[in-house]
Amino acid sequence: MNSAQPPRTLAEAAALLRRQEAELADSRRQTAELSHELSDADHGLIALHAELEAARGAAARLAAIVTSSGDAMISLSPQRVIQTWNPGAAHLLGHATDAMVGNTVDALLPEGARPAFEDALARTGSGEHAEPVETRWRHADGGLVDVSVTVSAMRDADGAVIGYSIVGQDIGRRLALQSELAAARAEREVMADRERIARDLHDMVIQRVFAAGLTLQGVTALLDHDRATARIEGVVAELDATIQELRNAIFDLHRAPQEAASLRAQIFDAISAARHSLGFAPTVSFEGPVDAAVPDGVAVHLMAVLREALSNIGKHAQASAAEVGLHTGEELLLTVGDNGRGLGPSTRRSGLANLRERAVALGGTFDIGDRPGGGTRLAWRIPLSRHRGGPTGS
Ligand SMILES: Nc1ncnc2c1ncn2[C@@H]1O[C@H](COP(=O)(O)OP(=O)(O)OP(=O)(O)O)[C@@H](O)[C@H]1O
Ligand SMILES: [Mg+2]
Repeated sequence: MNSAQPPRTLAEAAALLRRQEAELADSRRQTAELSHELSDADHGLIALHAELEAARGAAARLAAIVTSSGDAMISLSPQRVIQTWNPGAAHLLGHATDAMVGNTVDALLPEGARPAFEDALARTGSGEHAEPVETRWRHADGGLVDVSVTVSAMRDADGAVIGYSIVGQDIGRRLALQSELAAARAEREVMADRERIARDLHDMVIQRVFAAGLTLQGVTALLDHDRATARIEGVVAELDATIQELRNAIFDLHRAPQEAASLRAQIFDAISAARHSLGFAPTVSFEGPVDAAVPDGVAVHLMAVLREALSNIGKHAQASAAEVGLHTGEELLLTVGDNGRGLGPSTRRSGLANLRERAVALGGTFDIGDRPGGGTRLAWRIPLSRHRGGPTGS
């Protein structure tokens, strides 16, 4: 019910009309303002939507990179709990995504890798750039994997650390190639030195000794003293023998250092080099002649097999002892055993495949399996008779 009194006079009616007109104008103005504001809000919404779409696109692109990358990509909360674990990480470290998300990263870090990782977290957390660190992380099978790890802090709009991202790259192959390259370079330098010494001995020393011998022989013709002639002839014979020895030395210098060092010495060298990474000294036993029985063509492979077997013990076995045995007779039998955790189901890489290929190429066999009493034992067996060249060959 309308409480307003109806106008009683014409003047009142005119005043009411004016008031109502003014109110109408006011509400029109308000409506216009409102519609203006609405259209502004609309534009804002459209812009927001576009931004959201762009952000969604960027997130999708990032997710595609993370998923398809061959590198391990891991993200951590500030409390080091794993939040992202891409297929690259699963491939490199052997753990499935489900098994890792929600765990802390600590299980991946063997004792030796911790300080460098802590340092990288602290540096990137305080705003410094953390260089990639070459280190070893633990694989699901218990072994160690060579990785280059780059850590970066993730920050919110105010710059506060909201987590860390980690990119891990497999550098096993590169390290192996680098050490082969370094060994090849060192060998080439040694060979160059040996060639130079051999040349100097040949061109200078032998020629001078030879000339001295000729001079002495000339002197005997001038002498008519029998004892003096006999002594000089003795010295000339000595000089001839010296020249022969020099020639032998030159011949030795031209041979590769590997051939010059006995196989037995090379085996001892490889074992003592492995001590550092193993943390203990493997024992070694020989049965039968080593240097005489093993031809060079087999020795090169034997050394490669021994090095890979020792490296596997260091990387995978978690052993406290190992034994190397070399038996030579009609066949060569190299055995390498360790008291570690035994061979797991995983055969990820090519090391063991190479050992088998080397055996097959030489007409032999390769076996790896459980060692009686625990651990792993491999046997690399090569028939020797067919590889012996020269008069003793069959
Ligand atoms: N002595 C050992 N004790 C326990 N596990 C071993 C041992 N040797 C090898 N393995 C297992 O066998 C797998 C295959 O070894 P292999 O040498 O072929 O590869 P790798 O050492 O992992 O990589 P690569 O040799 O190519 O660098 C290893 O990943 C490891 O799981
Ligand atoms: Mg290996």
